[in-house]
Amino acid sequence: MALQTPQHSDRNLALELVRVTEAAAIAAAQWIGRGNKNAADGAAVEAMRHAFDSVSISGTVVIGEGEMDEAPMLYIGEKVGQGGPEMDIAVDPLEGTEIVAKGAANGMAVIALADKGRFLHAPDIYMQKIAVGPGLPQGVVDLDASAGENLRNLARAKQVDVSDLVVCILDRERHDELVAHCREAGARIMLISAGDVAGCIATSRPEGGVDMYLGAGGAPEGVIAAAALRCVGGQMQCRLLFDDDGQIERARGMGIHDPHRKYGIHEIAGGDVMFAATGVTSGPLLRGVMREGNGAATHSVVMRSKSGTVRFVEAHHDFTIKHWSRA
Ligand code: FBP
Repeated sequence: MALQTPQHSDRNLALELVRVTEAAAIAAAQWIGRGNKNAADGAAVEAMRHAFDSVSISGTVVIGEGEMDEAPMLYIGEKVGQGGPEMDIAVDPLEGTEIVAKGAANGMAVIALADKGRFLHAPDIYMQKIAVGPGLPQGVVDLDASAGENLRNLARAKQVDVSDLVVCILDRERHDELVAHCREAGARIMLISAGDVAGCIATSRPEGGVDMYLGAGGAPEGVIAAAALRCVGGQMQCRLLFDDDGQIERARGMGIHDPHRKYGIHEIAGGDVMFAATGVTSGPLLRGVMREGNGAATHSVVMRSKSGTVRFVEAHHDFTIKHWSRA
């Protein structure tokens, strides 16, 4: 019998993760376009939680659905998995709850895994983010530089004109000034209604059609996006955005002592990381769940920082053979 080397178990684990995101995506898909984001989210959470029971890890949720008293499942600190290497887990069972409720693009189920203690324990507040894809000189963009400066540096590195660059930004009033600055610099803007994990990842794939992600979005989503970008050699920086002293105090309890700190990608998601996502609704990276006969087809991506491999997985599930938890 072949020995299970750490590398073998790693590889298997990456595929086990896909089963977990597939389960969450299939469950959430029952709620596409039904105008009920909480039901869609609840279905994804429950399916993901159950699917974790057969994953070979001793996992601790560090980015999850909330504190223990506010989330019945996948709460921060919850132990998941059937036993194995100790790992920290960042989950977003349904990234883009509103998207799915409206039947719009880019809803997905997402997981990231890292060695113990290597994810930033980000509280559920906003985070200022900048992200670019792989193959660029280190430090080509900087969170503290102006939008214009970053765009000019990126254009130089990519040997294109600023007018060729597309910046993805969440369509929010808080970004009006940022959008204006990017347009003044000559760049084009892709405004998205929600789902900035997909927005950040889009920088790493040609089909994403995005050169830079900019703006403030959820901090937990920032950690998950950083894990994905780590796997492909992208770059990301972020800074937590606190509203009041109460939030700063809470963050201190989570190990964040300097509220103004600028984090680099290795501080957000360090060590070996894995990332898996399954599309719920279609976007440039992933197709959404498609009903077919007595089952459904799913489209997922799985990546590992150790190998840098990006693997797309198309799966056809037969509900008459395997029972899926469906709402
Ligand atoms: P949900 O999955 O909770 O609906 O969040 C989606 C999302 O768009 C994230 O991708 C993003 O980081 C965050 O919400 C932005 O928050 P807000 O909608 O408050 O601007």
